[in-house]
Amino acid sequence: MNATAHRYRIALLPGDGIGPEVMAAGRRVMDDLARRRGIAFEYAEYAIGGAALDAHGVPLRPADLDLMRSSDAVLLAALGGPKWDTGPANLRPEAGLLALRKGLGAFANLRPARIFPDLVSASKLKPEIAARVDLIVFRELTGGLYFGEPRGRGEGEREKGRKGEREKGKTAIGRTAYNTMIYSEEEIRRIAKMAFEAARGRRKRVTSVDKANVLEVSQLWREVVTEVARDYPDVELLHLYVDNAAMQLVRDPGQFDVLLTENLFGDILSDLCAELVGSIGLLPSACLGASGPGLFEPVHGSAPDIAGKGLANPLAMFLTIALMFRHGLKRPDLADEVERGVAGALKSGLRTRDLGGAAGTAEVTERVIQKISEEA
Ligand code: IPM
Ligand code: MG
Repeated sequence: MNATAHRYRIALLPGDGIGPEVMAAGRRVMDDLARRRGIAFEYAEYAIGGAALDAHGVPLRPADLDLMRSSDAVLLAALGGPKWDTGPANLRPEAGLLALRKGLGAFANLRPARIFPDLVSASKLKPEIAARVDLIVFRELTGGLYFGEPRGRGEGEREKGRKGEREKGKTAIGRTAYNTMIYSEEEIRRIAKMAFEAARGRRKRVTSVDKANVLEVSQLWREVVTEVARDYPDVELLHLYVDNAAMQLVRDPGQFDVLLTENLFGDILSDLCAELVGSIGLLPSACLGASGPGLFEPVHGSAPDIAGKGLANPLAMFLTIALMFRHGLKRPDLADEVERGVAGALKSGLRTRDLGGAAGTAEVTERVIQKISEEA
C-alpha cells in the first residue's frame, strides 16, 4: 500500500446531460479511494456548457477559468444538448470546452483505445482482430480548423466577388461559411515530440495521419513530424492519409501503436476507435499542456436521450479519473487501482446497455468500488 498522504485540489465540471450523473459516480470512486488511501480530494465545482449558459449567459466564465488554473487537475464530464443548439457558435456549449482547452494550453489530447479481454465479443470486429486493439491517439487539440482565423458566415469573399453577376440575376449564389485550418511549425513539433516520447514506452511505432496529397497544412505537418522523428531513431514513423487511416483502423487496428494527428482528424478517428473497443462509453482522455493543470474528459458526449435515467455508462469517467491520477497527479499507483477495478467489474460480467447488458450507473459504480478494494 502506498502510504503517501496528500491533498489534491480538483476542479470538477459536471456539464450537461449525463455529465452530472457520471461525475457523481466518479466522485464516489475518488472518495472511496481517498478514504482507504489516506489522501484528500478538495473539490471545487464550476459550470460549463449549457449549465453555464443558463446560469451566467456564457458557456464558460473567464474568472472560473482563472480559478481552475491553480488546481492540480480539471475533470470534465460532458456538455451540450438540443436546448442550446440554436445559438451562434460563440454561445454554444461547445465554445466553453474549446475556451477551456485553449485557456489551459492543453494542446495534446491523449485518447487510449485498448480492448478489455472480456469485451472482445462486444467489439464489432472479428474476435481475433478485436483482441489486438491497443493504440493511443495523440490528437492536436488547440489548433487547426477548431481555432482557425479568419472564420465566418454570411457573405464570404467568394460571394462578394460575384455580387455583380448576381445583381444582374445571372447566378443564384447561396449562403457561404468558412473556417481555416492553420498550423504553425511549433504547434506541430510539440505534439509530435510528445507522441514520439510516448511511443518509446510502448511498441515504438508512430503513425502520423494527414491529408498531404491535398492540403498545404498537411504537407507542413508531414515535414515537421519527419524532422522530429530524426531525434527518435529507435521509433518507426509511418505516414497515412486520413481516409486510408480510417479504413486501416477498421481493417487491422492491431498495426497501430501511437496515432498522431491534427484536431479534426483526431476527433473523427477517436469516435471510430470507440467501436473498436466496443462502446464510446469506455473511452477516456487526457488533455495536457506544457505546464499547469491537465484537463481530463471522457470521449463521449452528454447523451441527452438517456440523461437523468441512471443508465449512463460511468466506465469512461472512471478510466478518465485513472488518466488524471497517472498524468495529472503523478499517482500511477492510484491509476492502476482504478483500472484494475474496471477490468474486474467487466470480468465479473457487468454490462451497461451500450455493451448489451442492463446494469445502470449506480450498480456499475458500486461494483467497481468493490472490485477496486478486492484487487488492492
Ligand atoms: C470531443 C468532442 C468535442 C470535440 C466537441 C464536444 C466540441 O467531440 O471531445 O471529441 O469536437 O473536440
Ligand atoms: Mg469528438
